[in-house]
Amino acid sequence: MLKIAVCVSGGGTNLQAIIDRIADGSIENTRIVRVISNKDKAYALERAKAAGIDAVAVTRTAYPEKADFNAALLKAIDEAEPDLVVLAGFLVVLDPEIIRKYKGRIINIHPSLIPSFCGAGMYGLKVHEAALARGVKVTGATVHFVDEGTDTGPIIMQKAVNVEDGDTAEILQKRVMEQAEWKILPAVIDGIAKGKITLG
Ligand code: GAR
Repeated sequence: MLKIAVCVSGGGTNLQAIIDRIADGSIENTRIVRVISNKDKAYALERAKAAGIDAVAVTRTAYPEKADFNAALLKAIDEAEPDLVVLAGFLVVLDPEIIRKYKGRIINIHPSLIPSFCGAGMYGLKVHEAALARGVKVTGATVHFVDEGTDTGPIIMQKAVNVEDGDTAEILQKRVMEQAEWKILPAVIDGIAKGKITLG
């Protein structure tokens, strides 16, 4: 049984995709042991509770000092004893200590085809705004292992999505989620659960 902790910051549609794919059996042999949010009002926490999953918030408001926040986040992860940490729309740069401790056991979903439109400051809608501003005709999503850089870890899976005439950032974000993110993140978790994907 692969025990996963899912870290979130917002709406939690990627979390929902994981919950749904575990429920319908397309992710095998996997259990979400804890959902951790850095925002106490994140709707993702409601999704977790609705699914009966342990859900906790670790916020900067509660821990204004970055070092205290990092320690509390690490504690929240450690307590859950996960085999894998999934960053599913987690808009916090992880402390190097956490990355070192969980090396090869942290994955992230990013809403572009890395190395395009990634790195510091590129998250959420900003990624799609940048893709539209550059005028690319194809974008997509990437699941990668997390290393100490921002979006620099080994790429595991990518899926391309067409940009259409008249797209707004919101429309493009939704298409990238539906056609790419909600498919490849569950697929990678299933691959890890089956031992088919490891950090080489
Ligand atoms: C997703 O599009 C995810 O790829 C992105 O935030 C969104 C979260 O949506 N993550 C990043 O931009 C990380 N750099 P969700 O809360 O509905 O899953």
